[in-house]
Amino acid sequence: MTAPSLVALTGATGFIGAALLSQLTGSGWRVRALYRPRAGRAPASSPGVEWLPGDLGDSEALGALVAGADAVVHCAGTVRGARQADFDRVNVEGAGRVAEAAAGAARAPRFLLLSSLAARMPELSHYAGSKWGGEGVVKAASGKMRWTILRPPAVFGPGDRELRPLFRCIASGFAPVPAGSAGRFSLLHVDDLATAVLRWLSAETGYGETFELDDGCPGGYDWDAVVSVAGRALRAGRPVRRVPVPVSLLGLAALANLGAARLLGYAPMLTPGKVREITHPDWLCDSHAFALATGWRPAIGLEPGLARAYGARNKKTA
Ligand SMILES: NC(=O)c1ccc[n+]([C@@H]2O[C@H](COP(=O)([O-])OP(=O)(O)OC[C@H]3O[C@@H](n4cnc5c(N)ncnc54)[C@H](OP(=O)(O)O)[C@@H]3O)[C@@H](O)[C@H]2O)c1
Repeated sequence: MTAPSLVALTGATGFIGAALLSQLTGSGWRVRALYRPRAGRAPASSPGVEWLPGDLGDSEALGALVAGADAVVHCAGTVRGARQADFDRVNVEGAGRVAEAAAGAARAPRFLLLSSLAARMPELSHYAGSKWGGEGVVKAASGKMRWTILRPPAVFGPGDRELRPLFRCIASGFAPVPAGSAGRFSLLHVDDLATAVLRWLSAETGYGETFELDDGCPGGYDWDAVVSVAGRALRAGRPVRRVPVPVSLLGLAALANLGAARLLGYAPMLTPGKVREITHPDWLCDSHAFALATGWRPAIGLEPGLARAYGARNKKTA
């Protein structure tokens, strides 16, 4: 087996992409990484990384990104937005453009799309619909290109911005949780997700398939379990007061936030669609099929993972 030496990566400036970049270079891969130039931001140069300026809307940059690459890992995406179009522009049209560039390259690279478990329920939210749509356009654009889709559940770890506020609250001794929620969900540490991508790169299997990934905890978690484990990890077992937030109140806050976002032009996280995602009863998945295909196994349990990501030593990054 000849391992690919050059990986084209999108989203390397984000939470998951940064973890991926670090593991890829740490494992000896060369990486060409797309970044959006912004005033005051210059990606740190590091050995084995070639930064390429561009946007998912720029087909020319995407052609340059994938040229000569052995594999493309498409990780860029948006998790915030006020309208379906905000999500589709990045998660559907952007994904389609990267896939088209890769499929049209002189030597088509293997293609990995980082989707989301949310794609399982496209009707729930604009985000979920856009991740499902992104999967569709990648499959349609891929032609003879070998592709694989990964659907992680909620991902946590150093650098995360979405779950961090919750774990900060728990570290301070109180846990706002949706009232009456009987939902169960899977979780995954970002470093385990990155090793899954590395396994895919070296295993060269699993083409034409969509895989769900989890941390290997059978039956996943409910809110009570997460609060208990986080209490042990972040408060050395001192009590955490659960503060049930009525779903109707969450819904009102989401509506107000959405209205303000549309008025003021920012990209909101808490929206009515996000509330439907949060309160959906079943976000359970397992990694069995992916483990069989590639030999990957998750290695980071929730308690040590939370301590590593959000514990006192990591206050700056968490
Ligand atoms: N976080 C999770 O729990 C989770 C779970 C399942 C799936 N996912 C998926 O994983 C992917 C990465 O998520 P994340 O949590 O790492 O998000 P993130 O921290 O917000 O990072 C998003 C990345 O995508 C880039 N990007 C966004 N729009 C772009 C555009 N138009 N052109 C070029 N680059 C663009 C961002 O670049 P800038 O730095 O320039 O903004 C950033 O590098 C997404 O596809 C998301 O759907 C995330």
